[in-house]
Amino acid sequence: MNEIVTIKDKQFEKFIEFQQIQTAINRIAGKMDRDLNGKNPVFVAVLNGAFMFAGELMKEVTVPCEITFVRLASYRGTSTTNNVQEVLGLNESIEGRTVVIVEDIVDSGNTMVALKKELNKLNPREIKIATLLLKPDALKQEIQLDYVALEIPNDFIVGYGLDYDGYGRNLKDIYKISP
Ligand code: IMP
Ligand code: MG
Repeated sequence: MNEIVTIKDKQFEKFIEFQQIQTAINRIAGKMDRDLNGKNPVFVAVLNGAFMFAGELMKEVTVPCEITFVRLASYRGTSTTNNVQEVLGLNESIEGRTVVIVEDIVDSGNTMVALKKELNKLNPREIKIATLLLKPDALKQEIQLDYVALEIPNDFIVGYGLDYDGYGRNLKDIYKISP
């Protein structure tokens, strides 16, 4: 029941149950509580994909903290491979702060490298990265990921905030594309 969903032209099968997602989030929240105690962190969640992860995570983190949200606008530079990310919507100062980026998924790692570079221009004390999902076999960048909830194979997935062409974000569990 509900094991297969159809989104537009594609079928997806249930892959990770909410229960397992929640357990993984609780684990990294515990680690954050230990690491970030006394650091007054500001969490910067990346919209749209990370909204559900950020909500669950923030219910479990108990150190005093702030949360804010950004969106990324990517556009092509003069070189075709140069996909620059512009950070939209960050109104708060992060100068001198411990920043924790909250991302839905790290695939090649290009997005996180670009975002970290942009945020570093605003002179934070340090930047940590938390991601719900990591595809280790797709990673092309050398980047330190401080909090990884779940590692998954190289399949396209939807649900729990992640979309296929805008749809599927509201699924409570994570689904992977059917062959
Ligand atoms: P990266 O820059 O290659 O690491 O890509 C990261 C971004 O690609 C994520 O923030 C997602 O928006 C998107 N993405 C990567 N893999 C998937 C997937 O399996 N499903 C949905 N979106 C994905
Ligand atoms: Mg994303």
